[in-house]
Amino acid sequence: MIKKKNSKIRIFSGTRPTGFLHLGNYLGGLKGYLELQDKKDYDCIYSVVDLHGITSPYDPKTYQDQIREVVLEYLACGLDPKKCHLLVQSQVSEHMELAYYLSTIYPVSRLEQLPTYKEKKKEQPQYVNLGLFYYPVLMAADILLYKAQFVPVGKDQAPHLEVAREIARIFNRRFGQTFPEPQAYFMPSSYIPSLTGEGKMSKSKEGSYINLISSLDVIQKKLAKVPTDAGKGKKIPNKGGVDVLLKLIELFQGKEKRKNYENLYLGKGVQYKLLKEELAIAIYKELKPIQAKRNYYQKNPKLVDGILKQGKVYASKIAKQTIQEVKEKMGIV
Ligand code: TRP
Repeated sequence: MIKKKNSKIRIFSGTRPTGFLHLGNYLGGLKGYLELQDKKDYDCIYSVVDLHGITSPYDPKTYQDQIREVVLEYLACGLDPKKCHLLVQSQVSEHMELAYYLSTIYPVSRLEQLPTYKEKKKEQPQYVNLGLFYYPVLMAADILLYKAQFVPVGKDQAPHLEVAREIARIFNRRFGQTFPEPQAYFMPSSYIPSLTGEGKMSKSKEGSYINLISSLDVIQKKLAKVPTDAGKGKKIPNKGGVDVLLKLIELFQGKEKRKNYENLYLGKGVQYKLLKEELAIAIYKELKPIQAKRNYYQKNPKLVDGILKQGKVYASKIAKQTIQEVKEKMGIV
């Protein structure tokens, strides 16, 4: 990585304001954010991307609460305003401005081919709006506005990252070197499977997720529903409910513990009832302090407002510089 003297490597990432976060968001995204904020050469900007959120059906009456919830849980998980910047995307309007400029250099045909767009079209056939189509361009603008070099995201975002890279290349070629090509920063556990045993953990699939604010009782109930098998066999399952349980065991109880269960599986058999009970306790143990911190921030709204204000001021300064540079290069100033 080429680095200018005295300048830090910029990191940017965003989370849609879906309200309560689940283990998939935590392990796949947030843990990556935490790791990066601790590196002193990195300058991290983490954002709640509310402008992306409105491309899918949503309720304007509860939208602000959803945005706030993500901020509270970000902070509760350990994002530290002394080490990173927290931002609500719509508070820096330059995101939209840059997205428009970038949209003029990117072919429609490439956006039409994106798997994420095709999936969304199927998922919400009554809501195929222009914003949804434009989603990857706005995401590229989020990243390029801050000239970010690394973007911690889940594996499903790889096609969007490719768009951002391509837009950076096209822009640089046409108007002169301006943007670094952003790279995805995948977490080792960036794919958290659904508790149903099919697909990934997702808010839109009932029974697939455990929220960070879940009580022990809820966690136990959710795990109890994970489909299992006879508990023994010649091969460790690599898909379905058993695979999910093993993955969660590895993440919350360690590799060693997983190995023990695998040995049992290949030998005298696993008792899933006990396994699930232990796992529920291990998960809750990790979530409990997060829940306490979330409640603390919720009770101190001024503190949270101050953190967001700081993030906005910091981000706006960079955003204004980039917009000025882009306008000059594109010949519109
Ligand atoms: N599309 C991302 C997701 O659904 C969210 C997002 C929007 C994002 N803008 C971003 C992620 C910029 C990283 C960088 O997860």
